[in-house]
Amino acid sequence: MAQPVVTAPAGELPRVDFAQLEPVEDEAAVIAVTMQKGGVGKTETTKGLGDKLSRRVKPNGKKVRVLYVDFDPNGTLSDGVGVSEDLAATGLASVLLEKDGAAPVTELVYAVTEDLHILPARLDLFKLKSELVGMRGRERRLWLALQPLLHYYDAILIDCEPDLGSGTDNAIYAAAKRKRGGVLVVVMLDGPSMRCFETLLDQIESLEMTLDVRVPLMGWFANQATDTKVAKKYRAEFEAMPLPKLGEMPVRSKIKEAWDADMLLTDYASPVYDANYVYDELAKKVWEMIA
Ligand SMILES: Nc1ncnc2c1ncn2[C@@H]1O[C@H](COP(=O)(O)OP(=O)(O)OP(=O)(O)O)[C@@H](O)[C@H]1O
Ligand SMILES: [Mg+2]
Repeated sequence: MAQPVVTAPAGELPRVDFAQLEPVEDEAAVIAVTMQKGGVGKTETTKGLGDKLSRRVKPNGKKVRVLYVDFDPNGTLSDGVGVSEDLAATGLASVLLEKDGAAPVTELVYAVTEDLHILPARLDLFKLKSELVGMRGRERRLWLALQPLLHYYDAILIDCEPDLGSGTDNAIYAAAKRKRGGVLVVVMLDGPSMRCFETLLDQIESLEMTLDVRVPLMGWFANQATDTKVAKKYRAEFEAMPLPKLGEMPVRSKIKEAWDADMLLTDYASPVYDANYVYDELAKKVWEMIA
């Protein structure tokens, strides 16, 4: 069968041709991978989770189809899966802002593999927050923009920027509006992560009140986890929180190397590499929650 993609020059990811793409049976679960603290591992966790989810097989024999939404203007996820398109082009932010001449969202999606696609970040995302100020329904913009894509994916993973501003509010709102999915929090086992985590929970509570939604908390995933005295102390504190633990990833050099090589960890490292196993287990738990 012909691939549902628009042919791309060598070295560039092909664009997805939605006219040729078969819809999935149910609408996508939406998961916002978030934590306003920078550098904790949101992007690598999103990348690893999408990699592994997209290799799972559904009861109907088809693969789980996954869309990454790179919602961080820095484009770290896009970079790490080989998006080499012109970052200066207009993208998702222009759709959210309903700019004249904005391309339909279905023209902004690229295929990393047959079952794993990406809506990449563009530089226009840098201006999103300032342009959203004062706009009516500003937290609902991403949710609305994703509507045409919901029928084509089993899971949509939004990689948030390290911020608690309107961009993250949009991601959390989109996750809350679906009957499956929610917020997945990435932390490190230390005091700063714990403080930020508590602030994030407060922010979610306030969003629930002001936007009249219920935000499902899928759980927390500890990245760069160690067994130091400090890590042990905060592991115990996170484990006492009223939301599930989704796993722990140690520091692993091949995670960074795979990002640098624009490759998915499954393709870069041996299946018995322990980090592959941790992401597999994460995907298994997440799939059990959203299937
Ligand atoms: N488990 C790990 N082992 C080794 N390196 C890691 C691991 N997790 C993340 N890194 C590296 O740490 C850096 C930060 O990770 P990442 O970009 O995923 O964090 P982030 O939370 O998305 O950051 P930001 O807040 O800037 O978006 C990257 O260079 C990444 O490759
Ligand atoms: Mg990131």
